[in-house]
Amino acid sequence: MAMSQQSIHGQWSSRWTFILAATGAAVGLGNIWKFPYLTGVHGGSAFVLVYIVCVAALGIPLMMAEILIGRRGRYTPVNTMKILAEESGAGPWWQSVGWLGTLAGMLILSYYSVIGGWTLAYVFKSATGAFRGVTGASAHTMFEAFVGNPWAILFWHTVFMIMTMMVVAKGVQGGIEKAVQFLMPALFVLLLLLLGYATTTGFFFDGLAFLFTPDVSRLSGTSMLTAMGQAFFSLSIGMGTIMIYGSYVPKGTSIAGTSIAIAGCDTAVALIAGMAIFPIVFANGMEPGAGPSLIFETLPVAFGHMTGGLIFGFLFFVLLLIAAWTSSISLIEPAVTLCIERYDMTRASASLWCGISTWALGIGTVVSFNVWADRTVFGMTFFDLLDFLTSNLMLPVGGILIASFAGWVMAPETSRSELDIRHPLGYTLWHLLIRYVAPFAVTLVLLHALGLL
Ligand code: PHE
Repeated sequence: MAMSQQSIHGQWSSRWTFILAATGAAVGLGNIWKFPYLTGVHGGSAFVLVYIVCVAALGIPLMMAEILIGRRGRYTPVNTMKILAEESGAGPWWQSVGWLGTLAGMLILSYYSVIGGWTLAYVFKSATGAFRGVTGASAHTMFEAFVGNPWAILFWHTVFMIMTMMVVAKGVQGGIEKAVQFLMPALFVLLLLLLGYATTTGFFFDGLAFLFTPDVSRLSGTSMLTAMGQAFFSLSIGMGTIMIYGSYVPKGTSIAGTSIAIAGCDTAVALIAGMAIFPIVFANGMEPGAGPSLIFETLPVAFGHMTGGLIFGFLFFVLLLIAAWTSSISLIEPAVTLCIERYDMTRASASLWCGISTWALGIGTVVSFNVWADRTVFGMTFFDLLDFLTSNLMLPVGGILIASFAGWVMAPETSRSELDIRHPLGYTLWHLLIRYVAPFAVTLVLLHALGLL
């Protein structure tokens, strides 16, 4: 396999559509419920500051590394890593970075699609007025009854998976690009509408205070590491998604400028989501809970009691659905392109097979909320186990390996010419961060996640 000018899978029609697609991959469930909540718990603005430093010092350099590797290789992450390792005179085992990422994408999608299915169900629930007058207790019962029914969540998981695979099957320009060109602007408009709505609740500044009041005392070592882990997950780095999207980037696109734009959008969406959600929660005298309960229990109650709440509740779940959908598309792309390159499949049949196998794996997550709720390994259900394995192990290992490859294995002349940064110090700074800072800092996250630190 030789180095090629354009990927056999297609190319983005412009730098702008690449930014939309990569931002779509990055902005997901992680931004809309996890980031706002973590910020509140870990000391408000102090956490935001650490998060931004992590995005800038680790996230952006790693994203640049992934895009540059992807664009230079132009194949699925497995083959790209193989070709670039060969080019650098390193061993073929570097292709395992591609395998690890591709597998992580399928594993993440298997549970992400189940949660995406919940979001879809809640779009319908909110559209039919199911939240009218709900109380905390009835919202809890509604949610428990919903996830307690394996057939219901299997149904929505299936629909969500079909939606994802329909876009992927149509290819880079015909599918992914068309979808994000419509969905991402819609996502931004919805987010701004919700933000506007939050300002009318009378609790806008309480929300801001919750998110941004500096409280350094609440900032522990753990929260610094949490900020770093969240930055990785949120930017979708360490697993080949950005690498495959990078392989469709036209030559001559500034990698540094584009990475800064994507990371900036991702961070802005997370911050705005917090500014929109908390005033609505506080206006109803509710507590900001963690994870699924905030989105699927607290918010329906809040929306159910507010003027215009039914419409805005519906819009909120549409927003969440779009965020989950554009991330899901990116999660399966490495696996689909691998099947095309390795097994000579058409995109349609590769999408079908990857979709079916990921869907089947998702059944494990479906039952872990009901029939298998009591079956645990190390105290974790199947769903918890997958989440732990992917976010806490596979992404950090992927990040360390990608940073080491770009910083140590790739010849500096190669990365310098690919990045083509105009500012004289720009390249030096990137190289220092990717060589020394990123591998070390991510190793810290990993050790922490394993409880070894
Ligand atoms: N970044 C997505 C989110 O914030 C999750 C994701 C991780 C998507 C890794 C693709 C790859 O929800």
